[in-house]
Amino acid sequence: MRVLVTGGAGFIGSHIVEDLLRRGLEVAVLDNFSTGKRENLPAGVRLYPVDLRDREGVFRAFQDFRPTHVSHQAAQASVKVSVEDPVLDFSVNLLGGLHLLEAARAFGVEKVLFASTGGALYGEVPEGQGATEDWPPRPKSPYAASKASFEHYLSAYGQNYGLKWVSLRYGNVYGPRQDPHGEAGVVAIFIGRLLEGKPVTLYARKTPGDEGCVRDYVYVGDVVEAHALALGLEGVYNVGTGEGRTTREVLLAVAQALGKAPEEVEVHPAPPRPGDLERSVLSPLRLMERGWRPRVGFEEGVARTAAWFKGR
Ligand SMILES: NC(=O)c1ccc[n+]([C@@H]2O[C@H](COP(=O)([O-])OP(=O)(O)OC[C@H]3O[C@@H](n4cnc5c(N)ncnc54)[C@H](O)[C@@H]3O)[C@@H](O)[C@H]2O)c1
Repeated sequence: MRVLVTGGAGFIGSHIVEDLLRRGLEVAVLDNFSTGKRENLPAGVRLYPVDLRDREGVFRAFQDFRPTHVSHQAAQASVKVSVEDPVLDFSVNLLGGLHLLEAARAFGVEKVLFASTGGALYGEVPEGQGATEDWPPRPKSPYAASKASFEHYLSAYGQNYGLKWVSLRYGNVYGPRQDPHGEAGVVAIFIGRLLEGKPVTLYARKTPGDEGCVRDYVYVGDVVEAHALALGLEGVYNVGTGEGRTTREVLLAVAQALGKAPEEVEVHPAPPRPGDLERSVLSPLRLMERGWRPRVGFEEGVARTAAWFKGR
């Protein structure tokens, strides 16, 4: 198996690259380093420093590496940026994504694994429920719309050109290497701010001062396990824990992992962010039926992430 990992220099992609190499597969990375970092890449890994929007560059990478599989992790991955600039989001996630699918078609790729979003795709998930894969997509942000559309393109490429595909709809992924200065990734952002002794912003669910939005937080190591399993799967799978946590609960867990009392943390309440859902929780049952389990509990995952940031 020869796997081209797009976005392999990013947070999730770099963990996937390491895992695939550990499994003895041939791996190459395609990344434009817009948010990814060279230091995330294992030494010596084959690299194509290409922007997905550069069709010729994408085709040259495929011609050179001749992948059998593509793990498509690269994206404009911020809900906030997508709301501010939907055209940018479209150009990377859909136009860039189509360049990739066209190259996959031209060079006879067997399968594409896609990093989709469970966290944004289903729209509001009512209290007490977890979204299952057969819920219709109800994108609120342009980001969710581009991810949902790309799944439709995968289906079309499957039906017209025989391309196999699997879409993993991630919950809120967290863990080592997540960007603490990014637009998303509240665990890393809180850890970064607390380590620097700075106040944190808590965006409201409805009104400033409330507990914040509810999300399904899944540890990156568990996502990597789901990805490895998905090499042998087709279709759509949620990758989450089925448990919802408020932003304030995340803050408390981060404070605890860093040995800070909650009252030591200065919190700035802020209004809801445009495009953000109030509540998103996933049902992971379909993937669990295939043998996957979220193995790292939230407190444990936050402790591991905090330890990694402290060790840098
Ligand atoms: N982190 C999460 O909680 C989460 C949740 C759901 C889905 N996802 C999806 O998982 C994937 C990885 O997310 P992440 O959190 O690791 O983000 P990330 O920003 O760390 O990684 C994205 C990578 O893609 C690269 N990239 C961006 N635009 C590119 C372009 N035009 N051409 C080539 N490379 C480009 C970046 O340089 C970076 O290395 C994304 O597709 C994201 O939408 C992430």
